[in-house]
Amino acid sequence: MPPAPTTFTVSEATRKKWSEAVNEQANAAPVLDLTVDNITENVIAVNSNVTDNPRLQYLITKFIRASHDFIRDVGLNFEEWEQVWKFLTSVGQISTDVRHEMVLLSDILGISALVDSISHPAVPGATEYSLLGPFHDDRAHFVELGESITSEGTPGEATLVRGTIKDINGNPVNKALIDVWETDGNGTYDVEYIDKDGPDFRGKLYSDKNGAFYFSCVRPVPYPIANDGPVGALLRKLNRHFFRPAHMHFIILHPSYDKLITALYTRDSKYIHSDTVFGVKSSLMVDYVWTEDLKLAEQYGVKPFKRVLDGVEKEGFWLLEHDFVLVGKRDPVSLKTRD
Ligand code: BEZ
Ligand code: FE
Repeated sequence: MPPAPTTFTVSEATRKKWSEAVNEQANAAPVLDLTVDNITENVIAVNSNVTDNPRLQYLITKFIRASHDFIRDVGLNFEEWEQVWKFLTSVGQISTDVRHEMVLLSDILGISALVDSISHPAVPGATEYSLLGPFHDDRAHFVELGESITSEGTPGEATLVRGTIKDINGNPVNKALIDVWETDGNGTYDVEYIDKDGPDFRGKLYSDKNGAFYFSCVRPVPYPIANDGPVGALLRKLNRHFFRPAHMHFIILHPSYDKLITALYTRDSKYIHSDTVFGVKSSLMVDYVWTEDLKLAEQYGVKPFKRVLDGVEKEGFWLLEHDFVLVGKRDPVSLKTRD
C-alpha cells in the first residue's frame, strides 16, 4: 500500500488569513511588463508581506536585491544559470547525513569562516574561534588527565599537549570539558576508515583545579578535504588545491563560559597560508617543540620515538604547550532587521 499522504492541520483562522493575503496580492502590485530595470522592485513588493518575522522580511528583501544586482552586474546568461542550478542540484544529490557537500561548498567559498567570525566576534585576550568542520563526534571516550587519545599503534609521531584553561582575567577554570579531535599521522580521521571500530584520535577530558590539562596524541599532519564530488570538481576548475594545514580541533565547554569551538594550526605546516577552507588565524598558530626529555615523557606517559636529526638518531617526542582563554557568557549578537 502506498504511504498515507502527510496531512497538515491548519486552523480556520490561519486559512482565512492566507486567503485574504492571496486575494489582496492578486490585485496588488503591477507584476507585468517586467524589465531588467524594474523587476527587482516588483519581486521585493510581492515578497513584502511577512508580518510576524521581521528578520525573515529583512533577509529576503536584501537577498533579492543583492542577487538581482549580481546578475545584472555580471550579465548572467541562460546557459550560465543552467550550469549553476545543475551544479547546486549535484551538490544536494551527493549530500547525506555524513557527507555535507553543501557545507563544504560554503567552506571553500569562505562563507563558513565569515559566518563564524560574525557569530563569534573576537574578544581581546580571548582564544579565537575557528571552523568546526564535519568530523566532530560526540561519542568520543573520556580520558583521564595524561592519558592518550590515540590507540596503541596509531600511525604518527608521539606528542604531548599541555596547557591551562583560563578566564579573561587569567584565573584558572576548573572542570572545563576539553573535547579534542585530530587525524592520525596519515591525515585520516577515524570516521574515514571504513573498517575502524569506535572513536579514535579524539577524546574528552576535564581541566583540574588549576585549569591544567594534558594528554598525549600524535602530531597532526595536513590532509585533503573530500574532493571526489562537485566541490572537488569546482576546486579543480579554479586551479585550487584541496588541503587543510595540520591542525587539532578543540571544543571547550564550561557552564559559566561561552562555548569555544576552535583549532590549533601548526605554524610550519604546508598550506598554513592557503587553507582551502579559510580557518587559520595567526593567534591560533602553534609550534611543536622537539624534546628529548625522557623523564618528562615518563612523567606524562608519552612513548618517545626515534628520529634522525643531522644524521644522528635521537629519541624524543613533540611538545605542544598552549593555553585557552574563555569568555564569560555573552548575549548572542543581535540580529539586524533594517539597515
Ligand atoms: C576539518 O577541519 O575537519 C574540516 C573543515 C572544513 C571542511 C572539511 C574538513
Ligand atoms: Fe580537521
